Amino acid sequence: MASSGAAGAGGMRAVIFLGPPGAGKGTQAKRMAALLHLPHLSTGDMLREHVASGSALGRQAQPIMARGELVPDEIVLGMVEERIGRADASAGFVLDGFPRTLEQARRLDDIFLRRGIGSPRVIGFTVSHEAILRRLAGRRTCKLGGEIYHLEDHPPKVAGRCDVDGGELVQRPDDRPEVIRERLAAYERQTEPLLGYYRRQGLLVEVNGEQDRESISRELEAILTSRPGAGTVA
Ligand code: AP5
Repeated sequence: MASSGAAGAGGMRAVIFLGPPGAGKGTQAKRMAALLHLPHLSTGDMLREHVASGSALGRQAQPIMARGELVPDEIVLGMVEERIGRADASAGFVLDGFPRTLEQARRLDDIFLRRGIGSPRVIGFTVSHEAILRRLAGRRTCKLGGEIYHLEDHPPKVAGRCDVDGGELVQRPDDRPEVIRERLAAYERQTEPLLGYYRRQGLLVEVNGEQDRESISRELEAILTSRPGAGTVA
């Protein structure tokens, strides 16, 4: 991937990655954030950090995440607004796994309005249930830096260790089959309606998430480095 400047046409830029569990949002959001020189803001990662640190927020979120349900909007919104307000997000950010409910999307619109942030580019990943189950069953994540692997088609060089920082690779507790089922149900019930919400505003670009990682990255790079409305919006 060629490196490109942050804001292109100038101003703040917000990108939203939307899609079911295991769609590849995290994999691609990390790559695109690096390419665009923007911070990668994953609400799942933020919540897992709270759980790991044992904060009050983490203690509240942990049992909800363990069941595969969504954490209440107020918790997530507070966390996101605080993060967006930090200096490293002043040129923009890549949101991964947020918003996830219509309430979150509407409140995000308010935040954008209040902070003078323009319309986001919204990427919607489509992936079959079969692929999702296969991907999540084989996923391993670095405990230190969050690098994402797959035991079969993207294994680390040394088993159990991250290629980047040598951190231990672990399986997420919510990647068990019964929790995956609940996460998929929560996605269909609460998050899928956001595709229509952003499509109606002309902001959604749908990407076939079943392609290989490199093909998806190339497609996303073309979308995200083009001007909005320059022929790529679905
Ligand atoms: P979160 O961490 O956001 O999880 P998720 O949405 O379920 O998404 P995943 O991280 O499982 O998948 P992904 O799409 O990032 O895929 P990845 O790139 O890892 O949320 C976890 C929980 O936190 C939620 O259940 C909820 O409780 C709570 N939460 C978070 N945000 C919230 C919010 N806004 N509101 C309320 N609650 C919230 O890839 C998966 C695997 O596939 C990997 O092994 C990867 O190597 C592999 N892979 C990736 N791309 C490809 C490819 N192209 N081909 C083959 N394999 C691939």
